Amino acid sequence: MSVLEVIEMSKSFGGVRALDNVSFELRAGEILAMIGPNGAGKSTCFNCINGQLRPDRGRVRLNGSDITGTVPRRIWHLGVGRTFQIAATFGSMSVVENVQMCLMSLNGRSGALLPRAGEL
Ligand SMILES: Nc1ncnc2c1ncn2[C@@H]1O[C@H](COP(=O)(O)OP(=O)(O)OP(=O)(O)O)[C@@H](O)[C@H]1O
Ligand SMILES: [Mg+2]
Repeated sequence: MSVLEVIEMSKSFGGVRALDNVSFELRAGEILAMIGPNGAGKSTCFNCINGQLRPDRGRVRLNGSDITGTVPRRIWHLGVGRTFQIAATFGSMSVVENVQMCLMSLNGRSGALLPRAGEL
């Protein structure tokens, strides 16, 4: 059975058709690469898979369940990892503080920092 299925997915930004009826599947243990020139739609495809964008058409299935339009946090908890083209850390914070920020976010506690931000 496929772990991940992308089925006839399309996404447009105004007149730009970034994804046009894209379909592929990934089986357990398989390594699949997506290649294409700048602007081909790779990031848009990943953004639709991990919930940052909602596709205009098509479905995303994970282990047989439809996850189309599910929020990224939920998809992440289902086991879909994501890395970004441009990784950013907080330059004004130490390494330990950056890691603490990630852990607080993981525990849903990053909102606890907002009152302190208001004091600045
Ligand atoms: N949020 C957006 N708003 C408007 N247009 C967008 C948006 N995101 C992507 N696009 C457009 O959709 C098309 C696909 O872009 P996308 O970033 O998915 O390509 P890519 O294959 O990841 O490119 P690259 O190799 O440069 O990372 C491009 O024409 C891009 O300008
Ligand atoms: Mg990209």
